[in-house]
Amino acid sequence: MILVVGGAGYIGSHLVKELVETKEVVVLDNLSTGHRWAVDERAVFVEGDLGNAADLEKVFSAYNIEAVMHFAANSLVGESVVDPLKYYQNNVAATLTLLQMMMKHDVKKFIFSSTAATYGIPDVDLITEDTATNPINPYGRSKLMIEHILADFSKAYGLNYVVLRYFNAAGAHVSAEIGEKHDPETHLIPIILQHLLGEREHIAVFGSDYDTPDGTCIRDYIHVTDLAKAHIFGVEALLAGTKETATYNLGNGLGYSVKEVIDTCEKVTGKKANVVMSDRREGDPARLVASSSKIHEELGWKAEYSLEEIISSAWKWHQQSK
Ligand code: UFG
Repeated sequence: MILVVGGAGYIGSHLVKELVETKEVVVLDNLSTGHRWAVDERAVFVEGDLGNAADLEKVFSAYNIEAVMHFAANSLVGESVVDPLKYYQNNVAATLTLLQMMMKHDVKKFIFSSTAATYGIPDVDLITEDTATNPINPYGRSKLMIEHILADFSKAYGLNYVVLRYFNAAGAHVSAEIGEKHDPETHLIPIILQHLLGEREHIAVFGSDYDTPDGTCIRDYIHVTDLAKAHIFGVEALLAGTKETATYNLGNGLGYSVKEVIDTCEKVTGKKANVVMSDRREGDPARLVASSSKIHEELGWKAEYSLEEIISSAWKWHQQSK
């Protein structure tokens, strides 16, 4: 059985939908930001908190867990700057409780959701896993701390792990049964689509004077189902023993500017957006684009969805979840 912590959240719920096809799955989630309806009914659901040793003890004693996938974290850069305690508490301390419980129950395979925010403001066009990690906010630091902890646990206790550094997750499941639902929403694509559905008056572009061809920030958008599939490649490699430790970027290697994303949303939806140029948002690097060739070479994974497909899947979801 695979334990998915945070399996009711945006990325976790998409992973669960793929994973239940081949594995038995138990989801632990405290529903603080996740949704019970998002958990595939083929998975066992346990409401509980990963920072609560008693909740974890129940799950680890009741099920024969072979591997753990950990999605349960707070992930808003801006919030992490104003409330770092929340980030170090939930993303670091609670994860340590989970790792402690894993060691106690002799569960030594772990997939960890990390982030492009570990790189900070990189000075390369295409970020590889060897690019220096210099996070510039508590969110990025909280994720990098766990990466270091995993390396130490591997040496000391024989933990095997795969760290996946996500770039910009977007899109919705092809069935439109689950998709991105954050409250409040801060991410670009859902904000544009909510505006095009009449739920917001305009879209504010945060900065148009960056050193990029059109002056707006460039990001690497990756479909959430592509992300989910990478986890499956990762856990299979751990279970088969072909990988002991690895860190991989997950992106599609293409950068799109905020303006290009808005243009593509207009094209996919056939609607015209009301766009307002606004000040820069603090902490936004001009360009974050991943090289994902390492995971392609080592595990055979690559992103399959284009930006248009990402946006049309999100559009289908947003229209029906309105
Ligand atoms: N943006 C706008 N207007 C908006 C919302 C976003 O112009 O209303 C811009 C942002 O300034 C940024 C781009 O759109 O340039 C993408 O912003 P998102 O908030 O969608 O995503 P981020 O790149 O800021 O964040 C993502 C993940 C984080 C992760 C970060 C790494 O969501 O978890 O990448 O830098 F930490």
